[in-house]
Amino acid sequence: MSETIHVALGARAYDVHVGAGLLARAAEIIAPFAPSGRIFIVTDKNVAHHHGAMLTKALSALKPTLIALEPGEHTKSFAGLEQLTSQLLAANISRKDLIVAFGGGVIGDLAGLAAGLVKRGVEFVQIPTTLLAQVDSSVGGKTAIDTPHGKNLIGLFHQPRAVIVDTSVLATLPERERRAGYAEIVKVGLIGDAPFFEWCEKAAPFVIGTTPEPEKLGGRVHRDATIATAVKHAIAFKARVVEKDETEQGARALLNLGHTFAHALEAHGGYSNQLLHGEAVAVGMGLAFQLSANLGLCGETDAARVRKHLSNAGFVTDLRQLPGAPFDPAKLLALMAGDKKNEAGKLTLILARGIGRAFIEKDAPTEVVRELLQQETT
Ligand code: NAD
Ligand code: GLY
Repeated sequence: MSETIHVALGARAYDVHVGAGLLARAAEIIAPFAPSGRIFIVTDKNVAHHHGAMLTKALSALKPTLIALEPGEHTKSFAGLEQLTSQLLAANISRKDLIVAFGGGVIGDLAGLAAGLVKRGVEFVQIPTTLLAQVDSSVGGKTAIDTPHGKNLIGLFHQPRAVIVDTSVLATLPERERRAGYAEIVKVGLIGDAPFFEWCEKAAPFVIGTTPEPEKLGGRVHRDATIATAVKHAIAFKARVVEKDETEQGARALLNLGHTFAHALEAHGGYSNQLLHGEAVAVGMGLAFQLSANLGLCGETDAARVRKHLSNAGFVTDLRQLPGAPFDPAKLLALMAGDKKNEAGKLTLILARGIGRAFIEKDAPTEVVRELLQQETT
């Protein structure tokens, strides 16, 4: 059983197919987008180990070439881009071939960027394999690499032709990675859907997989159904936002709740795998709500409820305890000042008037942000 969520973007419209066991049907979904009948599967070595043989078999009619890169955020770099594009060119990729990004957000962002650049643009399909990539990064066409100046600063909007979300591949995903993906799910509730946040407060242990012995008490069935609900809800929410604002001229920036703080924390730590992107987003969302409370925009109770939920879900929400600590507040602020969303030297942040009531603040008071960072890091 699978469902389709359409992303209505005119000439760049596409479907997100969601269901358990969809990898087996990948050829039928992908074939229309590979006119040459030749595809390049870009993946990382972990995903290749767990699921590479299965996908290669499912796509055998399309003569797949498998390129398996080193796993981890460091691959999403100029060096990773050079390596991947060189391999594609050495294999004489043509504009009629198709790139299949098969992995987490690192592979999706990197392979999507390579697809947008190689021979001035090759079509690509996303097959996300982490919870984070399934609910967020594979949909919406943002592609990028990181630089020492900041995260995702070199990139393109390049929409995939289709997205295939097979929730059964999540079975091999470590719990820490599932939790990181959960951050982008609960983000949806915090931005614009308070009832969904309330649902998340109950559902988090099932989505993350911390419920004991799911086989007993019908737990596995409940867990799979809960994950499917969460994944579809988050994708549909994102699809609606992207349809309204494909290239982030306005409302799409809401999806970056917590991300300006998160990107600064990730860059501060040199993009080390000590701190996963989703973990940084979780702490960043807590900070965005705390800042909103400090500015009198939302109640302290909302900020406390958000941070309590994130902490109950297993995230570290205290910057002093976060891997990479101690953080230098001045350096964090400088990194935040380099964010893509900023205009005319002013700090743009996503703040909230309550749970589910996020908004874009284009001139966040730097002094109050500085005080918050000072207070949270010392
Ligand atoms: P990731 O791609 O590094 O994957 C996490 C780890 O899980 C890796 O070690 C990977 O090898 C492993 N893995 C992947 N699938 C697996 C599976 N099914 N079983 C076992 N192991 C598996 O990290 P991520 O969290 O998926 O993505 C983070 C990246 O996504 C960041 O760079 C972030 O900036 C980016 N991102 C992009 C967007 C966007 O809109 N483009 C949105 C959110 C995040
Ligand atoms: N992850 C934010 C966006 O896609 O816009």
